[in-house]
Amino acid sequence: MSSMNKRSVRPAQSANFSEVIEVYQDLEQASRRTAELIVAAAQQATAVGGRFDLALSGGETPRTLYSLLATEFRASIAWSDAHVFWVDERCVPPDHADSNYRMACETLLDHVPIPPSNVHRMRGEEEPERAAREYESLLRRHFGDDAPRFSFVLLGMGADGHTASLFPGSPALDERERLVVAVRVEKLRAYRLTLTPKAINGAVHIVFLVAGQEKAEALKTAFDETTDPHQAPTKLIRPHRGELRWIVDRAAMSASP
Ligand code: 6PG
Repeated sequence: MSSMNKRSVRPAQSANFSEVIEVYQDLEQASRRTAELIVAAAQQATAVGGRFDLALSGGETPRTLYSLLATEFRASIAWSDAHVFWVDERCVPPDHADSNYRMACETLLDHVPIPPSNVHRMRGEEEPERAAREYESLLRRHFGDDAPRFSFVLLGMGADGHTASLFPGSPALDERERLVVAVRVEKLRAYRLTLTPKAINGAVHIVFLVAGQEKAEALKTAFDETTDPHQAPTKLIRPHRGELRWIVDRAAMSASP
């Protein structure tokens, strides 16, 4: 069990979900705790013969977590019952250095016995709008016509406050019908594909894994109850019935009261 340095519970504004903040010494400890939560969610999902539907983030932060899942925690998950999705993707081919799919393969998926047909990547090499619609169709086939109910969604947060590829000020923040959209991120001069809050908020467990001093100001803004969601898109993540957990390290928490 990871050693937690501090734990606090914020009363959720909505009575329908609980929100918990856990602070760990460093990224290694935070990743270990997140791995434990993923194992517990997988066991909960498969206990009654069900599937474990896991949505992964990209970026740098989850690398340690994915490596832990591929090694120490590998035997604790029934990979044949797992289906893996992505919360977002860069619009590049799957073998590109920036591909979130490639990162997850290299650190995790190439090292566990998951059936290839259970790995559902976003097609970053296609025309973005078409790729977004195709991924939405894939989700609707997998989950039925209702909004997805992922067993576990892993999210990160950028230093500018974005999560998935929901960037501050983006029109995607106001999307209420679509499950997946293509977004133009001007400052990166790139397109991204991203799940919308509607697709994420049906999940049973949602975890933000955030580490590093460079995230401290954005985390403070995210926890400030007066901030507008257009400035802090993490505020749009509010599970309908599930549980929201922030697993952060001390450095990321250093600017928060
Ligand atoms: C991506 C992500 C993104 C990520 C944050 C944090 O494709 O970049 O899925 O939302 O979680 O940008 O990224 P880092 O972990 O690299 O700081």
